[in-house]
Amino acid sequence: MPDHETGKKSIRASAAAATGAPEVKASSGAAEKHRRYLFPCAATYYEQPLTLVRGEGMHVWDDAGRKYLDCFGGVLTVSVGHCHPEVTDAIVRQAQTLVHTSTLYANPALSDLAEALARVLPGDLDRVFLTNSGTEADETAVLLARVHTGVQEIIVLRYGYSGRSMMAMAASGQAPWKQAGNPVPGFVHAVAPYCYRCPLKLTYPSCEVACARDVEEVIQTATSGRVAGILAEVIIGSGGFLVPPKEYFQIVADTVRRAGGLFIADEVQTGWARTGKMFGIEHYGVVPDVMTFAKGMANGTPVGCTATTGAIAASLKPLSFSTFGGNPVTSAAALATLRVIQRQKLADNARALGERLHAGLRDLQRRYTVIGDVRGLGLMQGCELVKDHKTPDPQSVGRILEGTRRRGVLIGKGGLWGNVLRIAPPLTVTGAQIDELVAALDASFAELPEA
Ligand SMILES: Cc1ncc(COP(=O)(O)O)c(C=O)c1O
Repeated sequence: MPDHETGKKSIRASAAAATGAPEVKASSGAAEKHRRYLFPCAATYYEQPLTLVRGEGMHVWDDAGRKYLDCFGGVLTVSVGHCHPEVTDAIVRQAQTLVHTSTLYANPALSDLAEALARVLPGDLDRVFLTNSGTEADETAVLLARVHTGVQEIIVLRYGYSGRSMMAMAASGQAPWKQAGNPVPGFVHAVAPYCYRCPLKLTYPSCEVACARDVEEVIQTATSGRVAGILAEVIIGSGGFLVPPKEYFQIVADTVRRAGGLFIADEVQTGWARTGKMFGIEHYGVVPDVMTFAKGMANGTPVGCTATTGAIAASLKPLSFSTFGGNPVTSAAALATLRVIQRQKLADNARALGERLHAGLRDLQRRYTVIGDVRGLGLMQGCELVKDHKTPDPQSVGRILEGTRRRGVLIGKGGLWGNVLRIAPPLTVTGAQIDELVAALDASFAELPEA
């Protein structure tokens, strides 16, 4: 029997074991093959890589049959729980009906999704362009802004992340993600709204949100005075869950619009109820000109989406094409995900359970000095770990990840120095599960050498 067949069988057997059937084989060999055949840059979490073989609701199982409470959801992507029956059913039905068309033909799954999106998007944003990833969604937004305004320069934020294409790399504001430097010109980086480590050494609110006012200075000193727009994450995600002050986006959007540009809100992480509102930007009382989505929008099937108004969308003339963008199967998954979010009022759950999680993390902060900062909105909560007066402490982050894994809980990490715990469970999480997560964190912090 070929190796890959053996592997498949062992995965199935392990998954079966997780549901109570007898365990057949302890390891699928997937981690070894990952290491052997993928680019080494496709790094995995943990000292011993974790192989996941099955997911259901809030839980995933590894290839030894061990069950974990998933509090990272594949990087804020599993929004309504693993293999949600309604989403799975929509995928299966669509896969049995029509898998592929390309954008050269209309298909009902995409058209129904686009109509549903137009109803839920803020203001008069009612036009969408579907792609396959957040990177492509941001690429589309930047292209749109440049063509619409006839200007090249785009403001982006330090500590930001836009993806792994050449353009997205240039737009990003973290050295570890910029291996090719700035391969695409036209991006200028404003200071980040990073209150815990204010780049301007000020304190909110007496700072009068000077970071937002920096955008004006950047426009006046680093551009021609006119810009195509600003591309900004509503909460800087991979940069460590940096939450801007409440006045930030109003100031920034006004400034950029006065310079002729568009306000592009990257909602790849904050969209679809994650922060306790359908879109993160709703916390700031501003309607963007363009929004980008991906991750949680389709509960794990590959998707990217750029939304804007009819007038702005009209700037991009034919031809623009995406082979897989708006794929019927992904579109069916996205629509089903949206319906679950709306019907189960998951934004409300994210707000209430996010508050419970935040309170639990604050309590840990009072007891463990390694926790320098706790921040977040809804079910997007970060803990920045530090030693000796704010020195980033990525070693402790590594230990906490290992400790929580041993206790059957998965969380993520991020930040420029890798010293921020990122916690973002599916929106369906329960109060008991939040308590289980906080208990696993507590026990893991208690184990740290300096605790
Ligand atoms: C805010 C943000 N924008 C864009 C991207 C790129 O998305 P993708 O990895 O789907 O290309 C990411 C990915 O993490 C992201 O967090």
